[in-house]
Amino acid sequence: MEHPPRRHQVIDLDDLSTEEIEEILATTESMKEVLSREIKQVPALRGRNVVNMFFEDSTRTRISFELAARALSANIVNFTARGSSVEKGESLIDTVRTLQSLGADIVVIRHSQSGAPYLVARHFQGAVINAGDGRHAHPTQALLDLFTIRERLGQVRDLRVVIVGDIVHSRVARSNIWGLTRMGAHVTLCAPPTLLGPSQHWLATWPNLTISHSLDEAIKGADVVMALRLQKERMQAGLLPSLREYTRAYGITPERLAQIGEGTLIMHPGPMNEGVEISPEAATAPNSVIEAQVTNGVAVRMALLYRLAG
Ligand code: CP
Repeated sequence: MEHPPRRHQVIDLDDLSTEEIEEILATTESMKEVLSREIKQVPALRGRNVVNMFFEDSTRTRISFELAARALSANIVNFTARGSSVEKGESLIDTVRTLQSLGADIVVIRHSQSGAPYLVARHFQGAVINAGDGRHAHPTQALLDLFTIRERLGQVRDLRVVIVGDIVHSRVARSNIWGLTRMGAHVTLCAPPTLLGPSQHWLATWPNLTISHSLDEAIKGADVVMALRLQKERMQAGLLPSLREYTRAYGITPERLAQIGEGTLIMHPGPMNEGVEISPEAATAPNSVIEAQVTNGVAVRMALLYRLAG
């Protein structure tokens, strides 16, 4: 089999072929095996410099990139805007050029501005990985979600996946739609109209999506229900009548958990607003894979660092 050409950036899943995604998931499997050993480290990236550039808060993504780089024996530096020369007015481009001069091989960037990783990739000669930019994309989250679904259900093709919640503000939703549809899943977007935006907007890019405003209808026959965080920081006032109303119509409540059934995976990228989009009962149910998603994040990020540094 001819392998797809190696790339130097992963900014979204829109330009990743099915074969590339398959390769990344297969490498993730090998990385999970490394992480199951007593000594969770291999020398694959010894001597390489990875810079974690986080201009927006993160727990899971930042720490898992750090653990992933260490497990591959790379040198990892954590950069945050606070305490850096960005506070003195240094631009993103100059910051990236500075990191280049300091010997960075891979930059991992999270930024509140959609598109910031493309700017970085234009001015940095090493590899760039998007760790989440504005509403645009979160490719490593979508890859770890694909990996977790396949690990638990054996395949992604032909599965029925419902993504419910604050879709209009969600980079996780966008990257997951690219990844899930490319891997052959049937995706339903479920949200109140104010948190979805115009249906035509979605259907113009992904004509096979199903759009629903009723979670009770959408979950019938679903293999996976993925709840999204209400992103209060990106939300204008007036999009929802009240949080209680939202939970009643779109939350994974204990009542809906009973309807969903034990064979259906419950997912959430985190961080969760427990009691709003997902109840504590649903988050900790036997069919919840939320902790597995976090665990798999390290192996997926190892696979990407390894692939891009290769
Ligand atoms: N899912 C996710 O991106 O979580 P963090 O914001 O904690 O990285």
